[in-house]
Amino acid sequence: MQDILPAQKQIFRLIEDTVRDVLAAYGYLEVGLPQIEQTRLFQRSVGENTDIVEKEMYTFDDRNGDSLTLRPEGTAGCVRFAEENGLLYNQIQRLWYSGAMFRYERPQKGRYRQFEQIGAECFGMPGPDIDAELLLLNARIWRRLGLDGEISLELNSLGSPEARNQYESKLVDYLQTYKTDLDEDSQRRLESNPLRILDSKIDRTRDILKGAPLLSEFLDDDSREHFETLCGLLEDIGVAYRINPTIVRGLDYYNRTVFEWVTDSLGAQGTVCAGGRYDGLVEQLGGRSTPGVGFAMGLDRLALMLAEQQELDSKVDVYLVSQGDAARAGALKLAEMLRDQLPGTNVLVHCGGGKFKAQLKKADISGAQLAVILGEDEMSSGSVGVKSLRISGEQVEINQSELVAWCSEYFSKEKVVG
Ligand code: HAM
Repeated sequence: MQDILPAQKQIFRLIEDTVRDVLAAYGYLEVGLPQIEQTRLFQRSVGENTDIVEKEMYTFDDRNGDSLTLRPEGTAGCVRFAEENGLLYNQIQRLWYSGAMFRYERPQKGRYRQFEQIGAECFGMPGPDIDAELLLLNARIWRRLGLDGEISLELNSLGSPEARNQYESKLVDYLQTYKTDLDEDSQRRLESNPLRILDSKIDRTRDILKGAPLLSEFLDDDSREHFETLCGLLEDIGVAYRINPTIVRGLDYYNRTVFEWVTDSLGAQGTVCAGGRYDGLVEQLGGRSTPGVGFAMGLDRLALMLAEQQELDSKVDVYLVSQGDAARAGALKLAEMLRDQLPGTNVLVHCGGGKFKAQLKKADISGAQLAVILGEDEMSSGSVGVKSLRISGEQVEINQSELVAWCSEYFSKEKVVG
């Protein structure tokens, strides 16, 4: 689990603000979901035989003896939420959520045990048009973040559950003949979750997979048509994609469209956003049959990408320094006045005393444009010193009542110059 330093947090905020804006532009509504759910919810949706449920959940009994789990992902909780709040039957929903998810994974760059996701889930729309819209929305986010050159789209279709089962048994038949050559994990998955062998990263297993039957050969007609229409839509609108037949996803609820947005710039943890359709999930969890599709993006990974590109600075506009008790109170008051009357101006008050020289040094390091200086003399005459730290280094004495107007004019001139 990570501590997030200020510079990093600033990047997270930038991503959140951008994603929030784009989601609003597509008519998505934000919802708040609990971080803890009944363990059963994840067992029944993500799937008993997935890595997440088998070995990555933070699960505990509460004081009542109920088994609860820190959410490892958001889709299951969002479906439960939408069903319990009567948002599904005969309705169309475009919802989004954000927050921490928890998985007991082996930590490495871009993979943490607590990580941030922003996810979106759409209900009530069975056609490929909404799949295309979600991908357009994702592409717009990458453009807005300046990451579009580094992230590409990989698509696949898992077909119907029946087609998938049929394929699964053909795949098992094929892999059984090479069983002893498979890596240990894949041998285990042959029994529990054979499709996951397809995205094995072990060379030996990948070589064996080259001769395996392809899922695309087993697609049912409706799923094939759905997928072809989606690909056609993306081509029409100009969203570039690559079909990757090995994408199966690590969660059991998917059918038909699945996708991953990937980058080469993060090493092994290259998937920054992923999702797909889950048309059977609402019914599986006890609701009426309702199609669903969504995605979740990993903020930690996007933040790593942006940190490599961007130099963010903490922006301070005005830094107030003071000496003496009366001036200290005066500085706090003037700072409040500046924040009230010049919204958008970032004001930092020096706290903790010290000589003027040392305080002004701090003002300089803060990057502020202006230092506002208040000593005992200023307090008795009702004036204030204002020093331009970046442009001229000049210092003027003005009346305290003129400070807001003076700063306002200074910053508007600075903008014209800038
Ligand atoms: P997921 O592929 O498990 O899908 O996670 C989505 C994204 O969360 C990943 O692509 C990655 O960027 C980020 N992520 C996952 N695990 C970690 C980790 N340990 N550390 C850092 N980032 C991580 C889901 O969670 C589905 N609920 C997505 C979805 C929504 N499908 C339909 N609707």
